Amino acid sequence: MNLSVNFCGVNFPNPTVLASGYLGVTGSSMANCINHGCGGVTAKSLFMEERLGHPNPTVLTYPGGMINAIGLCGEGIKKAGHEFELYAKQCPDNPLIGSVAGHSIKDIVECAEIMDSYPVDLIELNFSCPNVEDEMGRPIACDPIMTENATREVRKITKKPISIKLSPNVPNIGMIAKHAEEAGADAITAINTVGPGMLIDIYMRRPILANKVGGIGGQGIKPIAVRCVYDIYKNVKIPIIATGGIINGRDAIEMLMAGGSLLGIGSALTYHDMKAFEMITKKIHNFMEEEGFEDISELVGLAHNS
Ligand SMILES: Cc1cc2nc3c(=O)[nH]c(=O)nc-3n(C[C@H](O)[C@H](O)[C@H](O)COP(=O)(O)O)c2cc1C
Repeated sequence: MNLSVNFCGVNFPNPTVLASGYLGVTGSSMANCINHGCGGVTAKSLFMEERLGHPNPTVLTYPGGMINAIGLCGEGIKKAGHEFELYAKQCPDNPLIGSVAGHSIKDIVECAEIMDSYPVDLIELNFSCPNVEDEMGRPIACDPIMTENATREVRKITKKPISIKLSPNVPNIGMIAKHAEEAGADAITAINTVGPGMLIDIYMRRPILANKVGGIGGQGIKPIAVRCVYDIYKNVKIPIIATGGIINGRDAIEMLMAGGSLLGIGSALTYHDMKAFEMITKKIHNFMEEEGFEDISELVGLAHNS
């Protein structure tokens, strides 16, 4: 039985990929995911400059989900190279996806140029973080023409595969994915967090997050993520890293059937810790055995046949 995935010419030993923002900061934290059965990793999104992010509290869980306003903190791309080198040395068989973000298209291109020089197998362009809207305006991924222009500019400076990370907070994600594909994207990552949303502390009588609003991930967003992946699969030919609310193996199989080729694993880590990767891969394996599938690619997009 084959659970490996050839994604844009890059071989992933199994379909699970650490989602950006979870543990993807140091080479050793990413390598630790591989030691626990993860197929490949996505690093935390990096900007050109160092960013402190939003003040605490920045993340909290609630029944059904998780809200965060981390605010894309990070050391800046110029200082991050050694972490990627460390990872690539330790995990040569598990692809590394570098994620870049920026305040403008020019910024993103500069950042992607540096990322291109690092030992990453794919470059993900985070056009879709909802919790920095006050600072940066509506995410690029909320506008088809901006998405197309930004993708086209990055396409010019790298030969590595690029995956565009899209936002669910639009009425037409399939159409936006199509614009990215036409501008030269090799893949789509979907979805980023939903929202922004807000939770209120009734005793303090104010929003709990210091930033007031944050992006929502976790179990509750799965039906939105499944629908987004389904819409994207219908509209484009390029493969999808399906992300959002994948908590267990059943969720993962739904995402494959919606059209995902790889599976972004994020908040499952808060429910199952590092066991999430192996648990999800094992469930897919067992399902394939029970249902008579030989290759994981046979599951991709199956829900479109009915
Ligand atoms: C704490 C936190 C930090 C995140 N940071 C990033 C990031 O740096 N770049 C990015 O593209 N997505 C980021 N995300 C979004 C996740 O990669 C993912 O798309 C989203 O949370 C949905 O998946 P989930 O339901 O499994 O959490 C972050 C999410 C959380 C909860």
